[in-house]
Amino acid sequence: MSTPQISRFQLVRGQVLHFLADPGEQDDADSYQYFRDGALWIVDGHIADLGPWVGVQARVAPEDLAAAEVFNYGDRLILPGLVDTHCHYPQSGIIASFGRQLLDWLNDYTFPAEAAFSDPAVGAATAEYFIERMLAHGTTTASVFSTVHPESVDAFMAAAKKRDLRMLTGKVMMDRNAPANLMDTVADAERDSLALIERWHGKGRLRYSITPRFAPTSSPEQLALAGELYKSKPDLHVQSHLAENPAEIAWVGQLFPHCRDYLDVYQHYGLLGPRTIYGHCIHLAPVEIEEMARYGAAAAFCPTSNLFLGSGFFNHPAAADAGIRVGLATDVGGGTSFSLIRTLGEAYKVSQLHQRPLAPLRAWFLATLGGAQALYLDEFIGNFARGKEADFVVLDPRATPELAFRLKGSERLAEKLFALMILGDERCVVATHVMGKPAFQQ
Ligand code: GUN
Ligand code: ZN
Repeated sequence: MSTPQISRFQLVRGQVLHFLADPGEQDDADSYQYFRDGALWIVDGHIADLGPWVGVQARVAPEDLAAAEVFNYGDRLILPGLVDTHCHYPQSGIIASFGRQLLDWLNDYTFPAEAAFSDPAVGAATAEYFIERMLAHGTTTASVFSTVHPESVDAFMAAAKKRDLRMLTGKVMMDRNAPANLMDTVADAERDSLALIERWHGKGRLRYSITPRFAPTSSPEQLALAGELYKSKPDLHVQSHLAENPAEIAWVGQLFPHCRDYLDVYQHYGLLGPRTIYGHCIHLAPVEIEEMARYGAAAAFCPTSNLFLGSGFFNHPAAADAGIRVGLATDVGGGTSFSLIRTLGEAYKVSQLHQRPLAPLRAWFLATLGGAQALYLDEFIGNFARGKEADFVVLDPRATPELAFRLKGSERLAEKLFALMILGDERCVVATHVMGKPAFQQ
């Protein structure tokens, strides 16, 4: 399939689909481009040209074409790499832990699992496993929680850097209401975060994300530190949790009686703005929705986790109507799968409960450009605009007998995308490329 071993050029053929904007609920025809016999022309890991194959072929210099590695994916779909906007790599081993809602689940399963990451060998092995699984599921960028241990960040960043992935993570900050072996202090959090930012932020494609776990496990002083760190350097990100579970929200009310609501805690400590993203955002008052949109803070929609932990039903259409940036997320290990394809299927079912079904084009926007916009990384990734980094996934919409039967005789794009998100999963991932090069092949 491929010719020279090391080439600056890749030619990728297949059914190319990418988004330019949110297609909304009516499949806005200007919001996406679809080239049935399409091609991507990649130079030095970046998109240099795209469109119908005949056009790309005519524009590329014949000597460059002759020197290119060629990947012909036939009638498979080529989409930008999937973006997982909220997940926890140290929780890879506790997916499918029975029977508790959020706060008990954290105490019974999550905290014991995270305690093991004081051992750098556990971090290194788990980071390798997690990243391999992500790539096998078509995900090329993720906003990832590490643990309180700085070594857990080193392990993840090293594994991501080795593969030249665009990834974000940060050391969890947690100085109260947690087991003693998982707590830091304000001083620890400051020293460790600064050292990790220095070591990893902006190195290759990596970004650091300031990571206060959630309001209940950080003192006011630690949240204030997190807010100061966020402002201390350009392009630092913030990730945390917001309004996931009723008992959690009531607890935040007791811990921060001076704040209007949960969002106001983060607002108070300077943790809302561009490049801030909050997991879940299920139980928000109208004023919280307005304020998130006004500050440019993003929400990570985690439907498999929200169903698994019985947390509730995120109102994606209401968030989108309000102008909040929304990304899709697995929330491994509260979530039940590494697959954003399966996650889209659950997102659809949740949207039905709001009587606003998630339209198929909008769904795949959410998993690609929408996620990149939610993370403020759309200048680099999220679609195939010329100059962007060439991370992409190749999907076979007929990978299983059920999909093949369902799609017999159908060539309609929306139908194919919908069948994929309802019946599809990681079996449909034929290949995942990072900066043009294959990082996973089935
Ligand atoms: N809230 C605080 N920590 C967590 C976590 O690890 N998972 C989920 N789902 N919610 C949280
Ligand atoms: Zn989470």
